[in-house]
Amino acid sequence: MTATAEPELAEHFEATLRRNDRIEPRDWMPEAYRATLVRQIAQHAHSEVIGMQPEGNWVTRAPSLRRKAVLLAKVQDEAGHGLYLYSACETLGTSRRELTEKLISGRQKYSSIFNYPTLSYADVGTIGWLVDGAAICNQVPLCRTSFGPYGRAMIRICKEESFHQRQGYELLMTMMRGTDEQRAMVQESVDRFWWPALMMFGPPDADSPNTERSMAWGIKRNTNDELRQKFVDMTVPQARALGVTLPDPELRWDEQRQAHHFGQPDWAEFKQVVSGNGPCNAQRVAHRKRAHDEGAWVREAATAFAAKQAAAAEETGDRR
Ligand SMILES: [Fe+2]
Ligand SMILES: [Fe+2]
Repeated sequence: MTATAEPELAEHFEATLRRNDRIEPRDWMPEAYRATLVRQIAQHAHSEVIGMQPEGNWVTRAPSLRRKAVLLAKVQDEAGHGLYLYSACETLGTSRRELTEKLISGRQKYSSIFNYPTLSYADVGTIGWLVDGAAICNQVPLCRTSFGPYGRAMIRICKEESFHQRQGYELLMTMMRGTDEQRAMVQESVDRFWWPALMMFGPPDADSPNTERSMAWGIKRNTNDELRQKFVDMTVPQARALGVTLPDPELRWDEQRQAHHFGQPDWAEFKQVVSGNGPCNAQRVAHRKRAHDEGAWVREAATAFAAKQAAAAEETGDRR
């Protein structure tokens, strides 16, 4: 085999990006591209899995069998999203075990939103509406991301996220048609989640050093601020239809820009939460670690079973 020179490989990589074709795991890629993808996909996978906790908190206290079935299905979908994404990440030469260890030891992050507590059942609705809504804004452009396995995982995930958003909105709509107490519960929940939902798009563009390179590589297709704007424009009419107020005194329609003007989240709070000091960071990671430790025997049993199957298959093969 003749070794292909690196400049030639790099040119092939750049040409693939220019054609808007996908980069596949077997293709040569710059190490920094690989490292950026591992970081982003792992963070995304961890968010799906950690994201099961705030809502899982309400599974045993769902107000009806129907609500419980919907919530269970939603939380299980998130586990599935985590699995697709860990698999996509493994094609880059890492392993789920390594990624999980990095999550548990705090060396890899997950979305800041899941470090906020869920205090009422209305939060289940608000998370579906705002958090899954923000996730959709973030993730739809990722269906066209340059790395094949990531883009294909996102196509499937996005279909399920739409269901998540709708079940949340439908729950809030039902509560808004209920008693004054239920309406107050929805408003209180929206007040708590609005700003953390805006933070989900990451820091302002001026403060996001990796954005430019990720866009050049076709990993990211829109900047943080573009996506945040899109989310606000999409959500304002939904809030109106629902009958809730978004807790931003600056929020108004800007005729000139044909978009909403809105206030800035508390970026100091965002930095605190991202660096591990949010209301629930320690609890979320401790819970994930406990689940991982308690699952050790399942992993051991599955590995032993697979080895036994492989040995049996080899023996049968020998006899043939
Ligand atoms: Fe998800
Ligand atoms: Fe979701």
